[in-house]
Amino acid sequence: MIGNPVNYDKKSKENFPIFPANLDLELKRYLNLVPGKEVLDLGIGQGRNSIPLAKLGFNVTGVDYSTKCLEVCKNTCNKLNLVQSDIRTFDIEKDKYDIILSGYVLHFLHKNDSHQLIKNIKNNIKNNGIVYISVFSLEDPRFIKHSTSSNFEILDNNILHNKIDDTYVSFFSKEEILSLFSDFKTLLISDSYCLEQKRQTPQYAGVIKYIGQKL
Ligand SMILES: C[S@@+](CC[C@H](N)C(=O)[O-])C[C@H]1O[C@@H](n2cnc3c(N)ncnc32)[C@H](O)[C@@H]1O
Repeated sequence: MIGNPVNYDKKSKENFPIFPANLDLELKRYLNLVPGKEVLDLGIGQGRNSIPLAKLGFNVTGVDYSTKCLEVCKNTCNKLNLVQSDIRTFDIEKDKYDIILSGYVLHFLHKNDSHQLIKNIKNNIKNNGIVYISVFSLEDPRFIKHSTSSNFEILDNNILHNKIDDTYVSFFSKEEILSLFSDFKTLLISDSYCLEQKRQTPQYAGVIKYIGQKL
């Protein structure tokens, strides 16, 4: 493992992001292909996707490092199985999960760690299971912003190291994500640049979304 996990507990109350529970339309569209009811959400945050999934009858295990995020999940929905852990060390039980999701999380890891985690996800998800991930793209404005900040050092493969807190942020291309999942059936790949208005302070984001199925 390289560096520290990003610490959402350090965000002040005012800045604490509110990601209201709201199932992503992309995921909703493919739920009919999911073979069973077991969901693993790596970096569950405030349960944006997992709370709606639990309400639809899925058994959700949510993993997160942040005490504050897990508290929000616990107080909002009593059906979630919550685990406080670094997702890089969480042991994914083999052939248990029908959906593994990780929304807006894997870019907070050094790519050695995110690539290893993707391998673990692919090895351990059930056959016909669905993987759903979203990550920052190279178009994301934070790439330029951080690259020009003295707090960050620029590493190979579009990885930035935050020297202040020893965390990483990585930016991905669509081709890179497709190559990491070359042995899966691609159901959806999108590369968008949009204004995220649900945030307290709307900001532009470049995001790659991927949905794939293990065959
Ligand atoms: C931007 S939020 C996304 C939350 C949620 N997945 C969503 O789509 O709304 C990122 C979440 O990932 C968690 N996270 C980031 N790195 C982590 C790590 N190494 N281990 C566990 N959780 C991590 C943070 O604590 C935070 O809750």
